[in-house]
Amino acid sequence: MRTLIRNATAVLPDGTRTASVLVDETGILDIDPGPATVADETVDASGLTLLPGGIDDQVHFREPGLTHKEDLHTGSRACAAGGVTTFLEMPNTKPPTTTVDALHAKLDTAAGKCVVNYGFYMGATGENVGQLQAAKRTPGTKIFIGSSTGTLLVDEQEALEAIFAGTTKPITAHCEDEATVRANYDRIREERGGEEDWPIADHTRVRDHAAARISAARAFDLAERHNHRFHLLHTSTADEVELLRNASPLITAEACPHHLFFNVDDYDRLGTLVQMNPSIKTAADNAALWDALGDGTIEVVATDHAPHTLDEKAAAYPKSPSGLPAVENSLMLMLDAASRGRCTIEQVAAWMATNPARVWNIERKGQIAVGYDADLVLVDREAEHTIRNAEQITKSGWSPWDGQTLRGRVERTWVCGQTVFDRAASFLATDPLGREATYRDPA
Ligand code: DOR
Repeated sequence: MRTLIRNATAVLPDGTRTASVLVDETGILDIDPGPATVADETVDASGLTLLPGGIDDQVHFREPGLTHKEDLHTGSRACAAGGVTTFLEMPNTKPPTTTVDALHAKLDTAAGKCVVNYGFYMGATGENVGQLQAAKRTPGTKIFIGSSTGTLLVDEQEALEAIFAGTTKPITAHCEDEATVRANYDRIREERGGEEDWPIADHTRVRDHAAARISAARAFDLAERHNHRFHLLHTSTADEVELLRNASPLITAEACPHHLFFNVDDYDRLGTLVQMNPSIKTAADNAALWDALGDGTIEVVATDHAPHTLDEKAAAYPKSPSGLPAVENSLMLMLDAASRGRCTIEQVAAWMATNPARVWNIERKGQIAVGYDADLVLVDREAEHTIRNAEQITKSGWSPWDGQTLRGRVERTWVCGQTVFDRAASFLATDPLGREATYRDPA
């Protein structure tokens, strides 16, 4: 099945220009093929923009064990509707992905139900360095240096040293200093006289700026001493940006839409819906993250898509869970930001496709170039789109951006040359068209 996408405004590695792109299941076959080219389908993309398909390197799809709020099928369909063609999923499922067997079980499940491409991190415990070494079909190792949802936590120095010393795949981490978070929590519990009904704004006092800074500094020190590639997840503070500016090139970082677009002023309106770990911070932190994206200090935008049901989120803080869904809205939020002049369309493609492919050594993805996989997203930069809870594909069924109108809309998504989402045809795939992502050996 050959598809010719004609006359798109294509974001190509050497610039953005009008181009026609010929694809099939094996990849991108040609750019601007000759007039005699035959295809099974020709798509007139005049007036639309063609981007490399999104690569979201931080999602939580809850399978196995927590599938009442998401599973690999529903999460991957949400990706397709949002223009994300490859996801890398976190290990804090039930059971967690801490053995090669658990990794392979997830890969097997994914092969039968993912409509987009997939990959899975290995989770570190204090005792599984052998498993981390033996795992080949993974982008890398995730360490919860601070605890979050689930049971994974490694914060003893000796165990961290062993992981950085004993593994070669890139390491990524949730960085919020456990001792700082616990001390803050205990202090506020005293202040509030118990653990019931705290104001949600206390979440940013529990998981404060110091917790993020101390933990990121600790991880950077480990990476630099062990000469190990390290990727900082969900940067939330100006303090971390400052550390990143002085860090070794071994270290890369990402920011998430909720840390770019929400801050403590949103707690009154949205309550626990914007309760996340790391917590949302201040308007000054939002600005610092945008500056860091703009100057290349932060290179990746990913969601930390972390669905919980609205019933679960309705619990009073601090009993409410941390996490919000975002994978089907992230690209459109960034297109809207581009329409407001906050960034360029080329930066959106770099942050959401090209750079994550490079950071995680993903083969043949992240660019519109001959020989690359035909993972593509066609967007209408002028069309408006209102996010509605009722239309969310995620099993959790809600979005913290419910009711918000964005400029820039995903029209069609291809995974390995096959359509997985087509707005005009009201089509969203159910077949398992996604493939396992593969990775070059780290340089
Ligand atoms: O708020 C969060 N929720 N942050 C994380 O790092 C994990 C996530 C989850 O899995 O619910």
